[in-house]
Amino acid sequence: MPDRIFIKDLKEYIGQEVTIAGWVDVRRDQGKMVFFDFRDMSGKVQGVVLPASTRRQGEAGPKSGAMEVAQKIRTEWVLGVQGKVNKRPEKNINKDQLNGDIELEILDIKVLNEAETPPFDISSDGLEIGEEHRLKYRYVDLRRPRLAKNIKSRHKVIKFIRDFLDQEGFFEIETPILTKSTPEGARDYVVPSRLEKGKFYALPQSPQQYKQLLMVAGFEKYFQIARCMRDEDTRGDRQPEFTQLDMEMSFVEREDVMDVNEKLLIEIVKKLYPDKKIQEIPFPKFSYKEAMEKYGTERPDLRVNKDDPDELAFCWILDFPFFEKTAEGGFTFTHNPFSMPKEEHIEDLLNEKNIGEILTSQYDIVLNGFEIGGGSIRAHRADLLKKVFETIGHKERDIERDFGHMLRALSSGAPPHGGIAWGLDRLIMILQNEPNIREVIAFPKTGEGRDLMMDSPSIIPEKHLKELGLEIKKKD
Ligand code: AMO
Repeated sequence: MPDRIFIKDLKEYIGQEVTIAGWVDVRRDQGKMVFFDFRDMSGKVQGVVLPASTRRQGEAGPKSGAMEVAQKIRTEWVLGVQGKVNKRPEKNINKDQLNGDIELEILDIKVLNEAETPPFDISSDGLEIGEEHRLKYRYVDLRRPRLAKNIKSRHKVIKFIRDFLDQEGFFEIETPILTKSTPEGARDYVVPSRLEKGKFYALPQSPQQYKQLLMVAGFEKYFQIARCMRDEDTRGDRQPEFTQLDMEMSFVEREDVMDVNEKLLIEIVKKLYPDKKIQEIPFPKFSYKEAMEKYGTERPDLRVNKDDPDELAFCWILDFPFFEKTAEGGFTFTHNPFSMPKEEHIEDLLNEKNIGEILTSQYDIVLNGFEIGGGSIRAHRADLLKKVFETIGHKERDIERDFGHMLRALSSGAPPHGGIAWGLDRLIMILQNEPNIREVIAFPKTGEGRDLMMDSPSIIPEKHLKELGLEIKKKD
């Protein structure tokens, strides 16, 4: 549509004839006149088809047939509409609405596409509709103003992050999606290799190893809006596929990473969510031990008034134990095996002494009771990293097979480095006052990890399985 005007700009065309395009949001047939609310990505406007008899002398009235077309049209049909932008009479002005003071007098309607009756109402916030139904027709659900706003606000937050980090001298670098298993505590999603039958790629649980390798490569300041996949049970703040703001920096200490992240979080709130109030700046810091003693959790909700949706209480949690006992009597890592122990505990790690007492350089960032991010200073020496894997019971041969590349990289001039990753979905959920992360993800999965719209996961043809050298075991 060459001369199409966006609905938000219509007020600049009062008295003129324009063309708009979009969806029928509401249609009210009043017999002699038909009223519409039209919607495009930029906003809504009311339009009216007047009876041809209302044509004023010397002016173009509705094209003949416009009324018949208008009477046939239903909600969610896609139209191109030609009309004249009129000021509304004083008594019909709605000051609280975009375009509440104008109206489009429709002269001609072109039906670009018809639509079946929508599966549900999209004018409400939608929380009253069964979520499975909403997910099945997500492309209709996303027309809902609340969801459309969430997705657009998400774009704004991500754009702000990119601009901010660019200013701070970071490079955004993509890392592979087809990769190798990372020990991050969750199960991997795996992809069978066709060329090497019986072997599998793993989808990344996070770009942890790659970002460290980028530090070894000398980039010094890396970030990525990174998709992460973890085969774990889904819940309100957890999806099998989610997005991190992933970051890594060289020649830094814990406080340097925390400072730049705190600054970025404050700026996002100030610039994009000016109505929200951060309870305490600088963000309070607690050791893991203090948090557990004081609040009984490592994710304390520090809001004074928990009913106020505009209250944001950030805090940092530090000094976590590096290892915890397993049911089998050995040890496993609590957060991230690639972390550096706290300086004063390095000797203990190297000598395998007081393992349960060793603290890690890990820092978590908590907002209103949700862990929205976590990171650490890394072990940049091969002997330290190797010791961590030995401590958690990995055999020499397995360490070489699984992490040989990391040990070699750390032995090839690795700078001291550290980083963090935010759960971006969680942060945006809280900023948008949403009850779960599915509301801020365009195409989320259900609690059972299903995409109801695409109907995935799904079976694949026998031929495809054969090509991959796979055989499905029949259920007993
Ligand atoms: P971690 O595993 O703590 O650290 O992940 C970082 C943050 O990601 C969010 N998160 C999730 N969000 C939605 N759904 C999930 N399934 C999910 N799992 C985690 C959380 C969490 O704080 N590589 C390290 C980071 C680092 O050390 O730099 C990592 O991935 O908000």
